[in-house]
Amino acid sequence: MKLSIIGLGKLGAPMAAVLAHKGHQVVGVDVNPAAVTAIQQGRAPVSEPGLAEMVRDNRERLSATTDCESAVLATDVTFIMVPTPSDPDGTFSMRYVLSAAEWIGAALRKKQGWHLVVLSSTVMPGSTGGILLPALEASSGKGCGADFGLCYNPEFIALGTVIRDMLNPDMILIGESDARSGELLEGLYRSACESRPEIRRMNYVNAELTKLSVNTFVTTKISYANMLAQVCEALPGADVDVVAGALGCDTRIGKKYLKGALGYGGPCFPRDNVAFSALARAGGAPALLAEATDAMNRRQVPRVAEMILSHLPKNGVAGILGLSYKSDTDVIEESQGVAIAQHLLSRGVQVAVYDPAAMENARPQLTGPVLLAGSAAECAGQSDVLTIATPWMEFRRLRPEILKPGRVVVIDCWGVLPAESFQRACVYIRLGRGPGSGAEMRQQMASAEAAGEA
Ligand SMILES: NC(=O)c1ccc[n+]([C@@H]2O[C@H](COP(=O)([O-])OP(=O)(O)OC[C@H]3O[C@@H](n4cnc5c(N)ncnc54)[C@H](O)[C@@H]3O)[C@@H](O)[C@H]2O)c1
Repeated sequence: MKLSIIGLGKLGAPMAAVLAHKGHQVVGVDVNPAAVTAIQQGRAPVSEPGLAEMVRDNRERLSATTDCESAVLATDVTFIMVPTPSDPDGTFSMRYVLSAAEWIGAALRKKQGWHLVVLSSTVMPGSTGGILLPALEASSGKGCGADFGLCYNPEFIALGTVIRDMLNPDMILIGESDARSGELLEGLYRSACESRPEIRRMNYVNAELTKLSVNTFVTTKISYANMLAQVCEALPGADVDVVAGALGCDTRIGKKYLKGALGYGGPCFPRDNVAFSALARAGGAPALLAEATDAMNRRQVPRVAEMILSHLPKNGVAGILGLSYKSDTDVIEESQGVAIAQHLLSRGVQVAVYDPAAMENARPQLTGPVLLAGSAAECAGQSDVLTIATPWMEFRRLRPEILKPGRVVVIDCWGVLPAESFQRACVYIRLGRGPGSGAEMRQQMASAEAAGEA
């Protein structure tokens, strides 16, 4: 098929590459000339594992332009993947979607024949049918259903695994104006996906609400695990890894996103959850669960920062390993590691930081006495209290030899370090473990053994 994708960002660029990889002719459109040039030169406009190779290998089917009208005229289906930033009340702004709709409409006015428009940006329930559809009809002078189709089709992807997630989705969600539009989009996904996803077709508002509900449910699960971690910390012998590990074996619950650790961050989870609350409040429905999830999440940064401060010697250095909001991405939006560093810097603490990918993005966010380390070992070698804030694979390979000599405290928020060797070398704290938990008992035995040997 001939496809155009408006917005070549974290979502649009991988989508363009994946569809070109599956044999479609794809034109990307962006207002940012740097993104367009990157695609034209066979480079990835954003950082995402596997994207650079996929863009390079599919150059003959993948092009880009700043001219939206020509892209729409040359294609049969147009995806809108532009930002929908959060407004102060927590709802999503449609301003970029509407400016894309102006251009699409102008092209449709000139176009002979039917065209499908697909909105993939995250929007408030009611927006596709209530805002985008009339805007497209007004700018094109044509009728939805008869002259063009309109679908709402959000993507369920996580940064760092976008390409894998696009090729192997659990579900394809389609809100459709009419059966012809839904069938065309369903066929496109059936040909592009390597898994056999559930395809759910429905009206716009149900699809919009499903998209928000998926993320709100996952954030509830994360906050639940973090609540459990705090309960474990107060309960002699309790260990959140043991409890959550067993809890996840129940298929009604499942293991994913059930790890007592830091809070959730990134460009989707926090704001989708807040938007769900805003939606519920606007309709007079109680948003108690979504609000509690958000409140629980906001507690994580001050909680861990205070834990660090309680262990930090006078004039000591607090090291933070991990500034991206999750591993395998350079995105720092709502990152817990950055927020902890900011909290400590605001208290006048000397901070050392390191991240394998996000140093450049984090640098402008960190003002004060901060050492931007060139490696995890350099960061650890300066730190009196070292905190693992993002579970990068690189950190799993760290050994205690990199720690600063003397008494060091390591706070392993994600349980990624080889615990036993760190327990022998430092005060090792894994979030979510109560006094006298298995790990702590092992640590005491090891210390007793070491004392005996001495
Ligand atoms: N990033 C994610 O993990 C993710 C996941 C699911 C949904 N989403 C949603 O997808 C949408 C896009 O998110 P993103 O992360 O890709 O954003 P992004 O900021 O990474 O990229 C958006 C791109 O759109 C371009 N753009 C803005 N206005 C434009 C216009 N009028 N015409 C052409 N290009 C324009 C920008 O220059 C930018 O390159 C948002 O609604 C977001 O909530 C994102």
